[in-house]
Amino acid sequence: MSKVAVITGVASGIGKATAELFGKQGWQVIGIDVSEPAESLTERGDFFLADVSDSEAWEKIVAGIREKQGRVDALVNNAGVQVCKPFVETTPQEWNRVMGVNLTSVYLAVRNVYPLMEKAGGAIVNVSSVHAIATSANIAAYAASKGGLLALTRALAIELGPSRIRVNAVLPGAVDTPMLQTGLTRGHLAGENLSELVEQLGSKHVIGRIGLPVEIAEAIYFLADGDRSSFMTGQSLVVDGGATARLSTE
Ligand code: NAI
Repeated sequence: MSKVAVITGVASGIGKATAELFGKQGWQVIGIDVSEPAESLTERGDFFLADVSDSEAWEKIVAGIREKQGRVDALVNNAGVQVCKPFVETTPQEWNRVMGVNLTSVYLAVRNVYPLMEKAGGAIVNVSSVHAIATSANIAAYAASKGGLLALTRALAIELGPSRIRVNAVLPGAVDTPMLQTGLTRGHLAGENLSELVEQLGSKHVIGRIGLPVEIAEAIYFLADGDRSSFMTGQSLVVDGGATARLSTE
């Protein structure tokens, strides 16, 4: 019987690559996104068009999974949004939206999915960001939401450990996705066009380039698969091409 993974934010970037990788590994993928994916995610799987910050949507999704698959082995909380603005210009609506999609959604997802995981155990992987540990100007709401997600990851690991549910976080650095491309216009790099900005950003990394979505998907899969990371819980795995290893004063 194939394992079942619920993955949010599957229409683009890291979530899309993660859904593809789980599918290749023989998992059934239940994808969730506010946008329709361009092509079917995997041969065997389902897709729900839903907003992860909507409590009622989670109730409906979980009712559907309970009826069809009957269980969940892994939950990947990947959907996220970024607002790139000076802190004092960030409106309450923008602040609440970032918190809702990046942090409250994880509370809703875990509360709803837990009953489908508690019998057999499983894994939860939260996609945080290096902005949880070191950040830049004009991205405070996002950084706060991703920092909160690390605290939540540890708290959940402790509370869900007795149910044999491991909870870990992945902290990607710069990864080539639509979110990164939009964020590059935030202005901390001075470049003329997108490829120039991407190259400049890449050259600041120890590895000499930015990451690919599949490189984050591999880390997510490692943490989700109980055969590979069975002794890991409550941890934060940084995957950033060495960006946070180097002193910014260097
Ligand atoms: P992306 O913008 O390419 O994809 C995000 C996906 O989430 C989109 O398909 C979008 O429709 C979906 N989404 C947004 N709001 C949603 C909602 N309310 N409900 C359901 N789905 C929703 O972004 P990317 O880069 O793939 O980001 C994935 C995760 O990785 C995010 O949590 C992001 O914060 C995190 N991340 C990304 C980094 C990067 O450099 N690309 C770096 C660090 C973290």
